Amino acid sequence: MTDEQAAYRAALGPERLIGLDLVRASEAAALTAFKWIGKGNKEAADAAATDAIRGMLNLMDMCGMCTIGEGIKDEAPGIFVGEKLGSWKAGSISVSIALDPIDGTTLTSKGLPGAVSVIAAAKTESPEDSALAAVPSFYMDKIAVGPKVKEGTGTIRFDVPVEQNLELIALKLGKRVRDLVVCLLDRPRHEELISRVRQSGAAIRLIGDGDIAGAIAPSMPDSGVDVYLGVGGSPEAVLAAAAIKCLGGEILARVWPRDEEERKSLEEQGYTEEKLKRLYTSRDMAQGDGIVFAATGITDNAMLRGVRVNGHIARTHSIVMRARSRTIRYIDAMHDLTRKTIHLQTEGVHSRL
Ligand code: FBP
Repeated sequence: MTDEQAAYRAALGPERLIGLDLVRASEAAALTAFKWIGKGNKEAADAAATDAIRGMLNLMDMCGMCTIGEGIKDEAPGIFVGEKLGSWKAGSISVSIALDPIDGTTLTSKGLPGAVSVIAAAKTESPEDSALAAVPSFYMDKIAVGPKVKEGTGTIRFDVPVEQNLELIALKLGKRVRDLVVCLLDRPRHEELISRVRQSGAAIRLIGDGDIAGAIAPSMPDSGVDVYLGVGGSPEAVLAAAAIKCLGGEILARVWPRDEEERKSLEEQGYTEEKLKRLYTSRDMAQGDGIVFAATGITDNAMLRGVRVNGHIARTHSIVMRARSRTIRYIDAMHDLTRKTIHLQTEGVHSRL
């Protein structure tokens, strides 16, 4: 390889080489979760998908550090912050990893649309560094918009009434406010917000769960969603930020203590009232250009179709994208179940599906 070729390859970013393996990991989680769709056992679904995602990630040559895991919500079994992922072979790429083997465990257990398996990796200089924000709270308040709203003058803000943000979004999209579609989690905490959005004339798309896909939707060209609003999980905000960076949109988020107890505990950790007001942008949550995001549909959702099985063929739909190049790839994969194996971490073997 000439020096010129080597320089060109370095400029492309070493993270481009791990994209397909990240898809293999999200596919493994989705295929494993498939068996649990509609079975009414979200814990078992999550445990199985976690086992499969961890098994695949640990086959990869990388020094991966889990920066955002799961397991906090509902005390679910999970891959925790600080867990080493990958082979840690000398010379392999260092990455911060954020993952959610199933975003939408309840949706999966009920057989409802909207569940996805998601991973983000962000290149770091060394394994000790982190390029994905460690947000201290359980929830964040979020506003996510697509590239057209991000560009140009005027920006969405938290410190203005929701009506003002909707007017700005409509203006930038060349629409009337009443033609906007706003996505929100269907939660009692959003009652007032929902009623104000409705009064503005905009349409609402309420989702039961799965706000990673919900927050990404405004950045996807054909989702039919113009803005995502409201309070959802903090890990989900960072995962969405990684995807939104690859798509050129924007997500703004701020810590949202769920009760006095959490507020007190945050204060004890040094998060004063002032610090809690900090605004996180997509660049704060997913830092640098070396971001890769992969997701596979478990059940059908706005971004991807869910897993389908026909005879011995399982079909998965995934997306993989990079922030540096902003390339978005859709991967429509057929898995021959007579040959397909999944490396489960607990069993340490390649088991058949
Ligand atoms: P799980 O898959 O872990 O159940 O999370 C689903 C989810 O809807 C997330 O997408 C969202 O960020 C969070 O839960 C919202 O939390 P809550 O259900 O407590 O409102």
